[in-house]
Amino acid sequence: MTNPYELAVQAADELRVRSGVDSYDVAVVLGSGWREGSSALGEPISEVPSASLRGFVAPTVEGHSGTIYTVRVGGRVVALVSGRVHLYEGNTAAQVAHPVRTVIAAGARTVILTNAAGGLNPDLAPGSVVAISDHLNLTATSPLEGVAPPAPFNSRFVDLSNLYSTRLRSLVRGIDPAITEGIYAGFRGPHYETPAEIAMVGRLGATLVGMSTVLEAIAARHMDAEVLALSLVTNFAAGVTETPLNHLEVLEAGQAAANSLGDLLSRVVRAL
Ligand code: HPA
Repeated sequence: MTNPYELAVQAADELRVRSGVDSYDVAVVLGSGWREGSSALGEPISEVPSASLRGFVAPTVEGHSGTIYTVRVGGRVVALVSGRVHLYEGNTAAQVAHPVRTVIAAGARTVILTNAAGGLNPDLAPGSVVAISDHLNLTATSPLEGVAPPAPFNSRFVDLSNLYSTRLRSLVRGIDPAITEGIYAGFRGPHYETPAEIAMVGRLGATLVGMSTVLEAIAARHMDAEVLALSLVTNFAAGVTETPLNHLEVLEAGQAAANSLGDLLSRVVRAL
């Protein structure tokens, strides 16, 4: 198998040809709930099915279509990555990180990761957006496992102390002061967590819980991209309230918040 770094460079070359743009400035990975609102960024100038690009695996989750949309937003060329893939679909960490690596190899220096998450704080109402300030990677894997990155890629021993850019977080706060920050605990899923697991990560400082983002963030930082990650809180995490969790509730919260999420994304991209 081609190593994942070279594979991303090859996929980026294919993406440039198929999308008709030489280079991207920004990439936005659309998580559950964020796709509906993303049309606020504008009409795509091209749509590339990700299955047509080398190394991409097809998403199996409802509400995630595998497409890279190219959109111009206020003078910037944005890659909208729709159809994230997860570990719980049976993918490797390298496959999960491949779309992000590809758009960065195609030029994007800023990566905005979005997701749906459970909230640990009972005061954090479903529908709230939280900027991730740091994470607990509980997936027991890393996109940097395996072959060493070839030159000119950075060493795999990457520093993650400013993984979620302080600069981008303060930019988000400037746009919407109601947006708080929190630590995201990334589990493998696909089952939701037990109340004991939620209590554990709560003691470790987590405010959000989900099944994505952490591996993509690590891969993006390894490629020197500036990372912003935004969570839409779709439900209270297990044990925070009496209500059982269900996937429909996660999708519905996304639909309800679509307009405000689209507006937020558009304002953030214009302010970069
Ligand atoms: N746990 C894990 N992932 C999630 C949740 C949750 O409560 N809500 C949305 N994604």
